[in-house]
Amino acid sequence: MAPPGPRTPAIVNAVRYARDPLGFHPRAHRRHGDVFRLSFPDFRDVVYVADPDLVRELFTGDPAQLHAGEANATILEPAVGPSSVLVLDDDRHLRARKLLLPPFHGRSLEAHRATIHEAAAGDLERWPVGRPFAVHPHMQAITLEVILRAVFGVRDAGRLAHAREVVAEFAEASSALMLPSVLRRDLGRWSPWRRFLRSRDALDALVREELALRRAEDDGEDRDDVLALLLRARDEDGRPMDDAALRDELVTVVGAGHETTATALTWAVERLVRHPEALARLRASLEAGETAYLDAVIKETLRVRPVIADVARRLTAPLEIGGHRLPAGTIVLAAITAVHAREDLYPDPGAFRPERFLAGDAPGTYGWIPFGGGIRRCLGAAFAQEELRIVLREVVLRADLRAGDPADERARMRNVTLAPARGGRVVLERPVRPAPAPSPALAAT
Ligand code: HEM
Repeated sequence: MAPPGPRTPAIVNAVRYARDPLGFHPRAHRRHGDVFRLSFPDFRDVVYVADPDLVRELFTGDPAQLHAGEANATILEPAVGPSSVLVLDDDRHLRARKLLLPPFHGRSLEAHRATIHEAAAGDLERWPVGRPFAVHPHMQAITLEVILRAVFGVRDAGRLAHAREVVAEFAEASSALMLPSVLRRDLGRWSPWRRFLRSRDALDALVREELALRRAEDDGEDRDDVLALLLRARDEDGRPMDDAALRDELVTVVGAGHETTATALTWAVERLVRHPEALARLRASLEAGETAYLDAVIKETLRVRPVIADVARRLTAPLEIGGHRLPAGTIVLAAITAVHAREDLYPDPGAFRPERFLAGDAPGTYGWIPFGGGIRRCLGAAFAQEELRIVLREVVLRADLRAGDPADERARMRNVTLAPARGGRVVLERPVRPAPAPSPALAAT
């Protein structure tokens, strides 16, 4: 039997989702149960699961049967390209993933900590005093600088500024990826798709320049940025990656790696300024050199305001899940917002309470899934969490912030992310304090 779901037309579902992307799936879950079906204009009869045990089945089932790459490709391939780790499946996916893991873990992650701290400390000096402003653009500037330095190892200020401009325009123009398929084509000079294609050409040119510059250097062997690692990589036959594949992985990591983290940082500030008791506790704990509450704040932010609403797998063979037999070709998604809003896992789920994650009874692996899971779990999860720790510590210790407006900010779709509608408006009450010493090494969770 097909899973239950609303009878409303696809276009109505799309409008309702756009109006309230955070509450839409939790509502469908409450009405229809742990497995429900929805249709959207380009995605008919997709199936959501909102129960941790079913999420586990989806994330840990046979990857040959559960193709995430194929599901991601529908929206993302025009941006990231056909060789991106995000759109590959099976052996090719595993090979790409193996290659990309080291630059974002262990010793390499350690090397990026100073970059993150420097970018945050520098940007804070530019925050205006005494009048409302949106923190989102500042968080974007910080995370973009971090990812560009981590990926390309760009040290030159002029090149960094140019790269920032090109990548920011690409990120902005990529909202065209979310348009209905009829509008995802070049409909003339002013069409969103034309703007997207132009920004993609500029980004491709930038990547080619960086590759050429790097190949002309002779200290490539000493570098530990992502580009250096990819240039040194060889397949089983000893062949290096070709330029098209290199381009796709570089764009993937830059694209997946900065907007998401900037949005999470903005939500953290948006939640904290509306919960002064949590903000005060966080500052006191950081001043005392403790980090447990900081980690709890980050976890709770990613729970109540997950940056990505759902993650998809496309069935290559029929699958039975939650008592429903689904045909091959079905897209099955883990409804992240709905899992995180379960009353049985998180009493009073709408409340922002970092303490939940201190009590030691936080839900297991599949009850907290902002980074997806299984062999597709976010490659940058450790990197993103470290960046969140370092930037938030800097902000909370140095800036006296209050909400620009007492009402909670609503979530709105920004590309594939759920972002605060007003960009996280805050008021900085007095000039930032002097920089504290760089944060101590924080254990990755
Ligand atoms: C708060 C920040 C971030 C969030 C919420 C986030 C979330 C996600 C999610 C939900 C997925 C899909 C997982 C799945 O299908 O099960 C994903 C995949 C991915 N993310 Fe992130 N991400 C973040 C930051 C980053 C960063 C900083 C990087 C790179 C440095 C990155 C690189 C990737 C890549 C390469 C994949 C594809 C993995 C694969 O298909 O094997 N992400 N991320």
